[in-house]
Amino acid sequence: MRIFALSDPHFSLDPNRTMAQFGPVWRDHETQIKQNWKQVVGYGDLVLLGGDISWQKKWDEALVHLRQLDGLPGKYKVMIKGNHDHWWKQPLQMQAQLSKGFFALQGSALQLEDQVIAGTRGWLAPNDPASDALDQKTFEKEMALLQQALNQAVALNPSQGIHLLLHFPPFTTLGQTTPFWDLIKKYPVATCSYGHFHMAEEWDVIPQGLVEGIQCHLTAADFIQMTPKLIWEEPAPLANPKSITNPG
Ligand SMILES: [Fe+2]
Repeated sequence: MRIFALSDPHFSLDPNRTMAQFGPVWRDHETQIKQNWKQVVGYGDLVLLGGDISWQKKWDEALVHLRQLDGLPGKYKVMIKGNHDHWWKQPLQMQAQLSKGFFALQGSALQLEDQVIAGTRGWLAPNDPASDALDQKTFEKEMALLQQALNQAVALNPSQGIHLLLHFPPFTTLGQTTPFWDLIKKYPVATCSYGHFHMAEEWDVIPQGLVEGIQCHLTAADFIQMTPKLIWEEPAPLANPKSITNPG
């Protein structure tokens, strides 16, 4: 099973509320995402959806978008809440209206085949220049949810490390680590995927790739050209020594 991630698809049913104002990259982006998804994701794969999924405010309307994603390739989909997902409900309530391979995480973790996924939204950290005093309460709540998610993941004995799905990066808009990152480092996290950042200035400074032993992926849809990003695949099997012919 391969693991892909894509966040911030920002699907909309309202022509007056779209991402078009944020540049040409968002022109007809819903069609682009669906087409690209079909090209790269296989039917046995897992896709992590990192929040800001639908602009709709009502659950029944957002469900239209979730079912569109549900119908795309991938044996499993796992979603978390973004800061714009006002339609969000309790994970079990949402899952009841989706296919059995579609899961929602909120300060929680689950095992899919031999992989362990933990997820929560995150928030602006106090050391982020964009945060203010009003963010403190949500920050503390999200720190507790992250810890809860990672503790649940550890209890599932992640033999290959935890795949952590966040909406807010564990880095500030200036690229500095946050208390979320300090917490993440205490756990056996293999990959950390996040979105939320849509500005070139943020993309220029955000840590990505291998950071202190954790593979970090910015998967905001505009950053990854509307194409789910491969974040993990089974290591290639070792060659069977018996199959190697001795040149001597
Ligand atoms: Fe977003």
